[in-house]
Amino acid sequence: MAAIIEVYDLHKVLNKKKVLDGLSLSIQRGETFVLIGQSGVGKSVLLKHLIGLMRPDKGEIFIDGIQLDYDKPEIMSSLRSRFGMLFQGGALFDSLTVGENILFALEHLRPEMDQNEKLERMRRSLELVELPGIEDLMIASLSGGMMKRVALARAIVAEPEIVLFDEPTTGLDPITTATINDLIVDLKKKLAMTFVVVTHDIKSALFIGDRIGMLYRGQLLFEGTPEELKKTNNPYVKQFVEGRSQGPITEEYQKQLQTMKTLAQSGGEVWKNK
Ligand SMILES: Nc1ncnc2c1ncn2[C@@H]1O[C@H](COP(=O)(O)OP(=O)(O)OP(=O)(O)O)[C@@H](O)[C@H]1O
Ligand SMILES: [Mg+2]
Repeated sequence: MAAIIEVYDLHKVLNKKKVLDGLSLSIQRGETFVLIGQSGVGKSVLLKHLIGLMRPDKGEIFIDGIQLDYDKPEIMSSLRSRFGMLFQGGALFDSLTVGENILFALEHLRPEMDQNEKLERMRRSLELVELPGIEDLMIASLSGGMMKRVALARAIVAEPEIVLFDEPTTGLDPITTATINDLIVDLKKKLAMTFVVVTHDIKSALFIGDRIGMLYRGQLLFEGTPEELKKTNNPYVKQFVEGRSQGPITEEYQKQLQTMKTLAQSGGEVWKNK
């Protein structure tokens, strides 16, 4: 298998914090790669780098062998058009209908396409997410699970090569979560696409992932299959996988907190710079 996404030595500082600190990653064409990690660890930031919405301080990203070149808008927009994205929170337009939301993506990504074909693609994408015929409903009238499905339809409607999913099941009940996970696996079988899914739900990660990567302190701490993840002896990864409040991740966090408190008490820079 050939890599469709290659990332080398990515660095990004945000709010004086090293969010990405020398991260390297390779995602194979046609696989579902799941990125896990605690809240605030930089999962969404990494996705935004892959699609070119954020520019790294240092490092290189290649999509299908073509390097992201931030000073060349034509290269950036042609690379972006190879992606579909499901944003964290859905990012649907409440004041538009389901159909208008999906058409919006097509108008943006495939402006040259003829109107009838756009309508046809929009209807087909709703069939793929098992919501046929709901194009005239208003977004505000949908349940959380339906909204995620519509966001999914919008992400795949332009038939992108790579789909990035940022937390496709967060905020959903366990049954709806399971049906969305089934749908992701099913879509993967039907469509020849590469999926990159961000989640902090370990159960979902194990179910949908061909490979899983865990982000910690700006790097990929672990990379492997669901089986390898379950068997890992890395204490940091184990704490996350087992969802324990006690362990090395918590200990490190408490040390950082202590350092900040000490600095604050001594009139240090940390709070002044906030
Ligand atoms: N545009 C931005 N400007 C400044 N800081 C940012 C920006 N986006 C993210 N950050 C910071 O970068 C860090 C990582 O954020 P990110 O949203 O990637 O976390 P995450 O892993 O996706 O968390 P969650 O699981 O809660 O969504 C956080 O400290 C966040 O405050
Ligand atoms: Mg996020």
